[in-house]
Amino acid sequence: MPANKQQLLDNRPEGEAVTSNFKLATAQTPELKDNQVLVRHHYLSLDPYMRGRMNDSKSYAQPQPLGQVMQGGTVGEIVESRNPKFAVGEKVVGFGGWQEYSVVDASQPGVLRKVDTTHVPLSHYLGAVGMPGVTAWYGLVKIIAPKEGETLVVSAASGAVGSAFGALAKARGCRVVGIAGGPDKCKYVVDELGFDACIDYRQHPDAKSMSQALKEACPQGIDGYFENVGGYILDAVLSRMNAFGRIALCGMIAGYDGQPLPLANPSLFLISRLKLEGFIVSEHMEVWPEALKELGTLVATGKLRPRESIAQGIESAPEAFLGLLKGRNFGKQLVKLV
Ligand SMILES: NC(=O)c1ccc[n+]([C@@H]2O[C@H](COP(=O)([O-])OP(=O)(O)OC[C@H]3O[C@@H](n4cnc5c(N)ncnc54)[C@H](OP(=O)(O)O)[C@@H]3O)[C@@H](O)[C@H]2O)c1
Repeated sequence: MPANKQQLLDNRPEGEAVTSNFKLATAQTPELKDNQVLVRHHYLSLDPYMRGRMNDSKSYAQPQPLGQVMQGGTVGEIVESRNPKFAVGEKVVGFGGWQEYSVVDASQPGVLRKVDTTHVPLSHYLGAVGMPGVTAWYGLVKIIAPKEGETLVVSAASGAVGSAFGALAKARGCRVVGIAGGPDKCKYVVDELGFDACIDYRQHPDAKSMSQALKEACPQGIDGYFENVGGYILDAVLSRMNAFGRIALCGMIAGYDGQPLPLANPSLFLISRLKLEGFIVSEHMEVWPEALKELGTLVATGKLRPRESIAQGIESAPEAFLGLLKGRNFGKQLVKLV
C-alpha cells in the first residue's frame, strides 16, 4: 500500500491563520477491509469555510480536530477496491481531506459519488458542478427567487460561487452585477462570465463610494443580493436595495480571520422591507440533484466557463489556502495532486 502525504491541523490560529498552523506528515495506507476502496486524489478543494473550522468556537459544524488530516472535498480515482459497486479506474467525488489517498467505506450512503468526465472535467466537480455551484443555485433559486428582468448583485463575483451565480442568474433573464477585487477579475467577470457589469471594490474602499458605484451599475436599484463578503460592501448594497428585496447570506469572508463586521444602518431592513436569510448548502441535500443537473448542463454547453487557480502538490495546500482568504486565487482554488 502506498505512502500517503497529509496536511494536519497542528495548532489553532490566533487572529490571522498562518502556514505554521499546519503540519505535513506521511502515513502508511492501511490494507483494505471488506467494502472499502482506496481513492487516489487528483484534486483537493480549498474552500473559505475551512477557516472557520480551524477555530474552536461555536459554529454550524464541529471544529476541525487538532492533529488530524484537514477535512475537505476531493475528486479522484479508485485505485483498489474491495467493494463490488466501485471498480478500479472509476472517478469519484468525496470528502477525502488534505491528503494524497483516502480509504473509504464505500457502502456508507453518500460518501462517494461517481462522476462522468465525458463533458465535464473532473476538477469542476469540486467547483461549478459541485458544492460551490449548488451553493449559488440554492441562494439564487430558493432565497432570492428572482423574476425575469430583476437586478441582482453578487460579491466575490469571480470566485467559485460567484461565477456560478452569474451564469444561473443570466439564464433566468436577470441583470447581474458583480463585485470583485481588481481590474483583471472585473474584466473576466464581464467578458468571460457574461455579467452585465462588475465593480472593483478596491477602487471603492468605503460604503459611500461603493454605494455611488452601485447606483451607476444598477439604475433600477437592487432586487436581490447574494452576499459572500460582509462589511462595508453589505452596507453599500443595503443602501441601494429596492423595497421587498431579498438577500441570500452565504458568506462573510471579510471577517473570517476575526475582523469585526459591524452593520452601519440596520434600520434599512425595515425601511426597505427586506428579507435576509442565511443558509448552509450541506443542509439542503434535497436540491443537489436538480442543481447539479442544471450546472452540469451550463458547463457542458460552454455557458459557464469557470476559471481555476491550481496549486501543485500537497505541500502547497496551506499557502494556497491562505491566499484564498486574501483574494490571491482567481476562480476556484484547487490543489493538484496527480
Ligand atoms: N453558506 C454556504 O453553504 C457556503 C458554501 C460555499 C461557500 N460559501 C461562502 O461563499 C463565499 C465564496 O466562496 P468561494 O468558494 O466561491 O470562494 P472564492 O470566491 O473562489 O474565493 C474567495 C474570494 O473572496 C474574496 N475576498 C476575500 N477577502 C475579501 C475581502 N476582505 N473583501 C472582499 N472580498 C474578499 C476574494 O476575491 P476578490 O479578489 O474579488 O476580493 C477571494 O478570491 C465565501 O464567503 C464562502 O464562505 C458558503
